[in-house]
Amino acid sequence: MAAEGACVLHAFARRTGQASLIGPFPICGSPAPGDLFTAILARFMIFKSSTTAVPDAPKVPRHIAIIMDGNGRWATKRLLPRVAGHVKGVDAVRKIVESCVERGVEYLTLFAFSSENWRRPADEVSYLMSLFVSALEREVSKMHANNIRLKVVGDLSRFDPKLQDMIANAERRTAGNTRLTVSVCANYGGRWDIMQATSKMIAANPGITEFTEEMLAPHLAMAYAPEPDLFIRTGGEERISNFLLWQLAYSELYFTDTFWPDFSPASLDTAIASYQSRERRFGRTGEQVSNNAKKT
Ligand code: FPP
Repeated sequence: MAAEGACVLHAFARRTGQASLIGPFPICGSPAPGDLFTAILARFMIFKSSTTAVPDAPKVPRHIAIIMDGNGRWATKRLLPRVAGHVKGVDAVRKIVESCVERGVEYLTLFAFSSENWRRPADEVSYLMSLFVSALEREVSKMHANNIRLKVVGDLSRFDPKLQDMIANAERRTAGNTRLTVSVCANYGGRWDIMQATSKMIAANPGITEFTEEMLAPHLAMAYAPEPDLFIRTGGEERISNFLLWQLAYSELYFTDTFWPDFSPASLDTAIASYQSRERRFGRTGEQVSNNAKKT
């Protein structure tokens, strides 16, 4: 029956007493598995949006997003070719992944290659791609053994088909892991994400001319994760550079001059300590925040 898959959701909603949430589902035709997942996310959105509700402010950031900047300058300072900085950068990634597991962080999102990074010299782009392939080959088994889920987020259509296959296999293999989700943003741009989500939302709601945040959010590339609590940028620049434009709405921003290859577990602790010293108000007054804290 065509509507069978979609009706799993209806059955779930009835069983959990949430039938009123079902509403007019566009998925009651013959949904692709991805569409069904998106529809489920839309109706039972697990994570609160920082602009439509007040989310939790966990003591240890649940989600950390990082722009790993300064690889080239790290290398140049040592009279090495820029790519040597990227090689060292992979070592730093490994250490920070381990540290996040140890500290109980649930989501780590890394900006590995932006949609604007294609503007770099061709040999650097091609080196970064090969580094990505070798890191996937080397690290995925270790990640899987450590219960880490890998996601690669971005417009992957521009990548070599072999790399696309490797990514799909790595994601499939680690899909059931629950300790930490590492999202690698590759050929990713925040504007790309908002535009692709808008296109999908319009396709899912034909004829509708007004949309809400709740209708868009499930189509964003990182709908599977809560919004980042803490954003870190290494390398001294203080800008967002088209990273997670939607998701960083209420993230705490932390900038450090440390170049990415030198960013250590101790540097991560300093960033987390800075996060812990902040009052997360999400639009409320300081008084409201402390009254709420007294109640809980
Ligand atoms: C920015 O430094 C860094 C990048 C564009 C690439 C980051 C990639 C890695 C750390 C390696 C691959 C990652 C994974 C997850 C396998 P930059 O080159 O802009 O440095 P600069 O500002 O000093 O020039």
